[in-house]
Amino acid sequence: MNAALVAENIDKSFVTGSVRADVLRHLSVSVQAGELTLISGPSGCGKSTLLAILSGLLRPDSGRVFALGQELIRLRARELEYFRLQHTGFVFQGFNLFPALNAIEQVALPLGYLGFSHAAARRRAQTVLEEVGLGSRMTLRPAELSGGEKQRVAIARALAKEPQLLFADEPTSALDAANGQIIIDILHGIARTHRATVLCVSHDQRLISHADRVLAMEDGKILSDRRLRSVLREELL
Ligand SMILES: Nc1ncnc2c1ncn2[C@@H]1O[C@H](COP(=O)(O)OP(=O)(O)OP(=O)(O)O)[C@@H](O)[C@H]1O
Ligand SMILES: [Mg+2]
Repeated sequence: MNAALVAENIDKSFVTGSVRADVLRHLSVSVQAGELTLISGPSGCGKSTLLAILSGLLRPDSGRVFALGQELIRLRARELEYFRLQHTGFVFQGFNLFPALNAIEQVALPLGYLGFSHAAARRRAQTVLEEVGLGSRMTLRPAELSGGEKQRVAIARALAKEPQLLFADEPTSALDAANGQIIIDILHGIARTHRATVLCVSHDQRLISHADRVLAMEDGKILSDRRLRSVLREELL
């Protein structure tokens, strides 16, 4: 099987004033479709930086990155922007919702950029909000939703365009246990039913036990790579 995401020998440093921080060092990894892959590791070890590089948001200083078979560095800025719009979805710890828009509008908005008509975007938004269990909450604004519900709106927004690549950076860390569990189950379901590649950064121990594969990072490197549920999955498939 071809990997959906591949990083080959990437390095990334940040220079602030006279201080240079080597954040990723000779890092190589590949991530498969249809799986929930989790990156764990201490604060500052480079997890968000790796996610940004694999999603094309940030360029490595050296090394190569392939997403869905495309070498990202070879794409022009416009092409990269369109690739990201079409194929990647993002979910963040802080939800990143627009305060003035209700749930349907939040989810429908990016579909407009992909050429959906207003009516088609709203229909798709409704379907996806139902899929994440928010069928009865569609006309509420962020201030009227709980943290868990807001995160489900953010996931629905990322999911609505049916991206092949879904990135989540600490999606459960602002949530209590019960809501965190709901989000984990939804992310898992996305990998399974949509055959998407779900790459998630988290410290959350509950998420770790639900992942298909766990990459432990430390100091800019991947220290261990464990596959947790592959046997069980093959039985299910
Ligand atoms: N744009 C930037 N400019 C300068 N330094 C940066 C930048 N982005 C990240 N860094 C530094 O790179 C290191 C790794 O940051 P990163 O955000 O990848 O860590 P992380 O593993 O996601 O941590 P956390 O768990 O706290 O989110 C940190 O020391 C950070 O200060
Ligand atoms: Mg981070």
